[in-house]
Parts: sequence; structure tokens; C-alpha cells
Amino acid sequence: MKQFTAPFHRRDFGEDFLWGVTISAFQNEGAHEKDGKGKSIWDDFTGRKGKIKDGTHAQTATDFYNRYPEDLLLVKQLGFKVFRFSISWPRILPKGIGEVNPAGIAFYHRLIDACLELGLIPYVTLYHWDLPHALEMKGGWCHRGVIFAFEEYVRICVKEYGHKVKNWVVLNEPFGFTSLGYMLGVHAPGKFGLSYFFPAIHHALLAQAAGAKVIRQEGEGANIGTAFSCSHILPYTQNESDIMAARRADALFNRLFLEPVLGMGYPVNDFPLLRRIERRYALWRDWDQLAFDFDFIGVQTYFPLVIRRNAFMPVVGISEVKARYRKVPVTALGWEISGAGMYGMLKQFATYSNMPRLMVTESGAAFADSMVNGRIHDADRISYYEEYLGAVLKAKREGVRVDGYFAWTLTDNFEWAEGYKARFGLVHVDMDTQQRTIKDSGYWFRDLLTE
Ligand code: NOJ
Repeated sequence: MKQFTAPFHRRDFGEDFLWGVTISAFQNEGAHEKDGKGKSIWDDFTGRKGKIKDGTHAQTATDFYNRYPEDLLLVKQLGFKVFRFSISWPRILPKGIGEVNPAGIAFYHRLIDACLELGLIPYVTLYHWDLPHALEMKGGWCHRGVIFAFEEYVRICVKEYGHKVKNWVVLNEPFGFTSLGYMLGVHAPGKFGLSYFFPAIHHALLAQAAGAKVIRQEGEGANIGTAFSCSHILPYTQNESDIMAARRADALFNRLFLEPVLGMGYPVNDFPLLRRIERRYALWRDWDQLAFDFDFIGVQTYFPLVIRRNAFMPVVGISEVKARYRKVPVTALGWEISGAGMYGMLKQFATYSNMPRLMVTESGAAFADSMVNGRIHDADRISYYEEYLGAVLKAKREGVRVDGYFAWTLTDNFEWAEGYKARFGLVHVDMDTQQRTIKDSGYWFRDLLTE
């Protein structure tokens, strides 16, 4: 029996619209040393004091490595058609290159087969932030060798799984892992400064295109995408200086990875500092290697940003006017809730003439859930999804080619530097017992998708 009604019907989105849910290897699998898995930069980072807010790690996480059959049944029960997950590079290649780990290969075969048996379409992300630690010891994303290592890893995955998996996401949020991990030092591997950030950006772009080309060669009938973080940007005031600051922020947050992929190069006019990347790699003459003709671009927008000029901010000269000062609705992480931000982002992406089809490959929110008599009445999360999906529908009705929406995420899991306190799941997890309980938001999706 239906418990929830949404302000739209799933058919409003079209019969072919893909409804999915996304997880990632490091945030869910656990089994950190099991069956020959190598160490990732996140295994290392979580072991360092003070890096994770609640002092936790992800050695067990949600134990997806062992519990995937149960979790896939939940995906099915909630009515989703697509299951997006990532492959852990160090589970396949414990040292990043060289010897392949057969038990790691076997695990993803089991997982993919289980998806297919349930009629779920696997969308497989090749890199969701867990670089093999052995590669980081050689310089990680700052070392050009990472491109060739990534190509080899992708080749192994596509040769192994390509007859069963047709949908690939090459990188997950390259701006996220390069800025947080190599500029700000708050994510693994904890490096900071432009001397790390700029090479990491350039190599991530080169690896992304190189990996995508490998899939095109090896993967018959492959549907190839990559997933970008983005935030709709608004200037704080209509003063020229804030407008300029907002433009710079847009170049940094939304265009830095997208425009090189579309063959436009780095957005140097709006963010002149990026000329340093151009100068640094001038001798390589590899500008045409940054582009790739993707079949789809994954859009991952959680919140919009309001930006003003701040001459005291080093490097960028801008700062964010936080949501709490603007007194707008926020999630448990202080992220502004704004369907308008989702709509604005989709419309902005759609303005590029050679933009591939769009997919919302992640969208969701953390709230302080509480269990009352065995139920989680997360009305705030339901209204979040109503607002964000409503925005997708509006953009779609206005002609934006957006083909799917994947919720972040199935179960509560390890939210990187935040630890386990930030709960994004449609399904609650008791981290002591690993017991799963479907939240009201999960039932809301079930009612939308199955009734
Ligand atoms: C983006 C990342 O891809 C994912 O790993 C993360 O948990 C969510 N955003 C929420 O922060």
C-alpha cells in the first residue's frame, strides 16, 4: 500500500528516464585488507590523527563487501533500475600497477552478476577517490605516470567486465578530489598548495580522457560518461567586484574540468591564474589530449554558492557567504537546500552546444535522523528530493536533455572527513550491528517508482 504521494508522477519524467542509486567502494565496502586488497590513500589518511572529524575509519564501513546481496535487494525493493557503484583500484591492483589480484577481480564479477540477476543496470565508476597508496608514494595525481597506470587499470576492468557492464563513469568529481586532496589538504592524500593542485588537475584530465579512450577501444557498445561536481553560483551583491568574483568562482567550480573536456581548454579568461597550468605544460603540447567525446556527463550538484569578493583571500580573492548567514534552509552539513540551484546548473550546462546528454549521477542530503519505534521519519529528506526532482523536471520540460536521476545514497555510509555522523542514506545503518532500516525517504522512492 502506498504511504507517500509525490507532487509528480514518475511518468512525468518519461518512460526512458533512468532512476538509480549510487554508492562508492571506499565509503561502503570495508574489508580493507581482505582477499589481497592493497592499501589506498584513504586507508592511510583515515589512520592519521585528527583527519576524520569523529575519529572513525572505514575498515568495515557498511560491510558492503559481504552484505552486497542484501543491499542489492534493497535497491530492487525501493524500485530503482540502476545501481551505480565504484571499483576499488587497489582491490584490483594492490600496488596500482603490475600484479592483478584475482580475488578482487572475482568480487566485482560476483557483484555485477548479482545486479544482472536482479535486473539492475550497473553503472560502474572507475575512480571514486581511493588511489592505491603505492602510487601516491610515487607522487599520486601529481606524477604524470598516474595516467599510464590509470589506463592500464581501466583496460583490465573493461576487458574483464565489459561484456556485462555497458555503462561507465570514468572519474567521480575530479574537482572534488584534486581540490580537497591536493589543494586544501582536508581529504586524502592531505597535500596542500598550488604546486600540488595544478599538476593534479592536469593529470586527472589527461587520465580521464585516456581512460575513456581505452573504454571506447575495448568496450563494445559502451556508454561512457564522467561525473562532475558543480554549484550554481550567485554574486552576493550586484556590485561589479562581486559579479567578477562570482565569475571567477564559476570558472573554478564549474568550468575547470568541463571546458577542457569539451575541447575549449582551461577557462583562463575568467580565472587567469590557470595560465600557470598552461605555462607549466607548454612543452608537452598535450592540450588536445584533455578532450573526449563523452556519451553523457554526470551532474552532481548538492548546493548553490553565493560569492563575494574578498581581497584578503589568498589565490582566488573570493569568499563564500555561508548559508547560515543568509538564513536559508540547510542540511545537517550546512549546505543550502535549493532546487533553484539544481535547475540553474542544468540550464547552465545545457548552454554548451556540444554538451552530451546529462545524467544526475548523485543527488541527496544529510540530516540528523532519529529512530522512533523502529522508524525513521525523515520528512526533511523527502522534501529535499521533492524539491530537487521538481527542479530536474522543470529543466527537462524546458528542453534540457537530462536522462536520469541517481540518489545519493543507498545506505548511510562513511562520509569522508565527516566520518559517520553525516547520514545521507535512504536506508539507515546501525554502525554497531550493521542492521539496515528503510527510512521514510526510501519508502517515498518506492511509492514513486513502483506503485
Ligand atoms: C560527492 C561524492 O561523490 C560522494 O562520495 C559524497 O559522499 C557525496 N558527494 C556527499 O558529500
